[in-house]
Amino acid sequence: MALNVVIMAAGKGTRMKSALPKVLHKLAGRSLLQHVLATAAQVGHQAGRVRTVVVTGHGAEQVEADAAASGAVFVRQMPQLGTGHAVQQAVPALDPGHAVTLILNGDVPLIRPETALALVQACGGTKLALLTIELPDATGYGRIVREGEQVRAIVEHKDASPAQRAIREVYTGMMAAPTALLARWVMALKNDNVQREYYLTDIVAMAVAEGVPVVATGAPSETEVLGVNSPVQLADLERRHQRAVAESLMEAGVRLADPARLDVRGELSCGSDVEIDVNCIFEGQVALGDGVRIGANCIVRDASIGAGAVIHPFTHIEGASVGAGALVGPYARLRPGADLGEEVHIGNFVEVKNSTLARGAKANHLAYLGDATVGERVNFGAGSITANYDGANKHRTVIGSDVHVGSNCVLVAPVTLGDGATIGGGSTIAKPAPAGQLTVARARQVTLPGWQRPRKTTGKA
Ligand code: UD1
Ligand code: MG
Repeated sequence: MALNVVIMAAGKGTRMKSALPKVLHKLAGRSLLQHVLATAAQVGHQAGRVRTVVVTGHGAEQVEADAAASGAVFVRQMPQLGTGHAVQQAVPALDPGHAVTLILNGDVPLIRPETALALVQACGGTKLALLTIELPDATGYGRIVREGEQVRAIVEHKDASPAQRAIREVYTGMMAAPTALLARWVMALKNDNVQREYYLTDIVAMAVAEGVPVVATGAPSETEVLGVNSPVQLADLERRHQRAVAESLMEAGVRLADPARLDVRGELSCGSDVEIDVNCIFEGQVALGDGVRIGANCIVRDASIGAGAVIHPFTHIEGASVGAGALVGPYARLRPGADLGEEVHIGNFVEVKNSTLARGAKANHLAYLGDATVGERVNFGAGSITANYDGANKHRTVIGSDVHVGSNCVLVAPVTLGDGATIGGGSTIAKPAPAGQLTVARARQVTLPGWQRPRKTTGKA
């Protein structure tokens, strides 16, 4: 069934006390609006065809820029005269051929596609379906007023009688309605209420008056329907979301040292027998192979880590690929384009950027490999670096297999070290080093016989 989705995102979010429009605040690394757009896209995918209309107002340009890639249509609501007024603005942008219109809120980020789809199905193009929930404290919410089992109306908190305020069943702000009826109803709304707003919720009484069935679908969890109005609520939803991510990882067999100390800001996929210690952050797309162990306090972004690799604590990895059985860290930094083969060892305070290290290569201490191609079993000594930048351009260093680079060497790129070459410690290598030989480029050591250490003069001339 083809679908319109309206996402209301015009509100200011005063209680965030921020210059950033509320829906652009981030949860799990993505804006609140991006979460809702992703849900809309998934529901649309299930439904067949979808048109998504985002109602913007406060910070409209920023909000529209954030959502530009989603393919959504934007309508502006200036000024903001209520949720009914917001949907009025969206009506001309709806596809009248799409039988159902789903209404979501830009500041309710954790609504699951399954729940939204159930709402669409409950509507079925003929009924008005409301997503509701029972809350112990319903203060501030629109109450679901029933006669017997039948939903009769939604009454906003500020307009409710004391008896209505005692109702615990509330409207979550999400509904699905037959498109043609919704369009007609919102155009007929009046603002004769306490807040002088056009309440979308008044369409419930209109549906009842016309004999259109109104159904209430219960939300499966409070987390899915909680909105973000303040930094405290944002942090609360972040933790709820992270807890859910941690639980689904653990259900899949991942061993987390502490599910409360994990942050996934993107997609983390894990093989079997993966262990993750505390305080790790995963961003973007990260794939961990079977048996991978991640030490405490690692930050891993857009990376794949091969089976059995061990990432020791305090390691930063971004845009890199780590081969099976590799050992990295502690305190290592893999930057974009670092491509480590199987069983490579990268130790403490080693930085690797845009470099390929073949199977078994090692740089165990205090080194920099930038724009380098490193052969199998190379040993890159402590304190050695590739000088890849001449002040204007970057150049490559090519190191053959079984090369031994001593400590504290500078390899001035472009430069090539042949297979099996040995570079003496402290060398500055700016010319090709031949295969299989020892190359040393440093001043010869001399000892001066009979040299005397200077003595302090006495001061008496
Ligand atoms: C609304 C519902 C209430 C429900 C509650 C759930 C109405 C009249 N009331 O109340 O029944 O229990 O949500 O949270 O709908 N927005 C606009 N333009 C506007 C006004 C709001 O785009 O002119 C957007 C807001 O940015 C927000 C959403 O609509 O994303 C809901 O607005 P909000 O003011 O939070 O609605 P409530 O008064 O809380
Ligand atoms: Mg309000």
